[in-house]
Amino acid sequence: MQRLLLNSVPQRPEWPDPAALDEVRRCLAASLPIVLPRESDLLRRRLAAVAEGRALLLQGGDCAEPLHTSLDDIESRLDTLTRMASLLSGSVLLPVVVVGRMAGQFAKPRSSAYEVRDAVTLPSYRGDSVNGPDFTPESRTADPYRMLRAHQASAATMNLVRALVDGRSTTTAAQVPEEMFVSHEALLLDYEIPLTRVDPGTGRTYAGTGHLLWAGERTRDPDGTHIAFLAGVDNPVAVKVGPTAEPDELLALVERLDPHRQPGRLTFVVRMGAGTVREQLPLLVEKVTASGARVGWVCDPMHGNTYTSPTGHKTRAFDAILDEIRGFFEVHQALGTHPGGIHLEMTGQDVTECVGGSAGIGHDDLPLRYESACDPRLNREQSLDLARHVAGIAARR
Ligand code: PEP
Ligand code: CO
Repeated sequence: MQRLLLNSVPQRPEWPDPAALDEVRRCLAASLPIVLPRESDLLRRRLAAVAEGRALLLQGGDCAEPLHTSLDDIESRLDTLTRMASLLSGSVLLPVVVVGRMAGQFAKPRSSAYEVRDAVTLPSYRGDSVNGPDFTPESRTADPYRMLRAHQASAATMNLVRALVDGRSTTTAAQVPEEMFVSHEALLLDYEIPLTRVDPGTGRTYAGTGHLLWAGERTRDPDGTHIAFLAGVDNPVAVKVGPTAEPDELLALVERLDPHRQPGRLTFVVRMGAGTVREQLPLLVEKVTASGARVGWVCDPMHGNTYTSPTGHKTRAFDAILDEIRGFFEVHQALGTHPGGIHLEMTGQDVTECVGGSAGIGHDDLPLRYESACDPRLNREQSLDLARHVAGIAARR
């Protein structure tokens, strides 16, 4: 891959010790990848079916994965995703491609580089591969050795995902998908680049950290380094599309990321907010479709619907999430294009981070089990509720 200069890349952590960073990068470059090129190729073929209207994508997992997770956490998330996928495929009669936001989702973009609490200013939490969530100078200092721990945690998680998928006929309790892929935001290029490899069989270049990588809302500049990185790998890639995106920006992203117009290569993950999607999305889909691009369109109904509750927690309302999905489906129905699926922050655990749903979680319940280090996730029941609603919406088309 071409050499990318990282000095002034947006969202890059301030690494205090350049020698330690170099050592970690060398160590990552000598480490095993988490996934193989042929698996990423297989996901590209699955996503081609999504782009062409023959399948749906269900992508879900943590906002910020913790370095320390439990088998139960992984198993219950797979179980929840599997049940959601069968609700969707049962009503839409299309295969559902299951992709976890897991085994690599350790780096977070932040709107501000610093956080102020009680007149104390510290660097913002940037995900467990960079620093810790505790509000202390030690925890918030970027530590490159955390990238080695993130690599190890990704490998351990992927190992369990593979074991659960392989043993699915013999597991009793948890449901597991027949086929499972993993994805994360390609934000931390100090981590991604050393784990990017040329496949000796084909001479093509692949990110080894996950099957599908995406660029976030804050790093999707078509001329920026994150997009240049994604342009240089052969994995399927995605880009988040927020309410300020212009048609020309999306056309430039298609040019950069999918010059050969290969279905499955590029997915746009729309995250506009329930109040915006019906107005903003149609022109984007029209222009991209008219350009001859063959991208997948997926709805992230989480990131445009975040607010702070009276308890001070970042939260999202189930009804707003559902309404954005409804709007997304309406837009595609009106244009005759394919609403390709949903991208969610969710867990199989019984947390209280988003409000609403059939259990009626309210603002006062948020402190009970708020475990996310970053954005609020749908809990198991809310995730299954949502899948039932989406199955109904999709089936009516
Ligand atoms: C995320 O997916 O956690 C995220 C930060 O999203 P976005 O880039 O869309 O804001
Ligand atoms: Co998030």
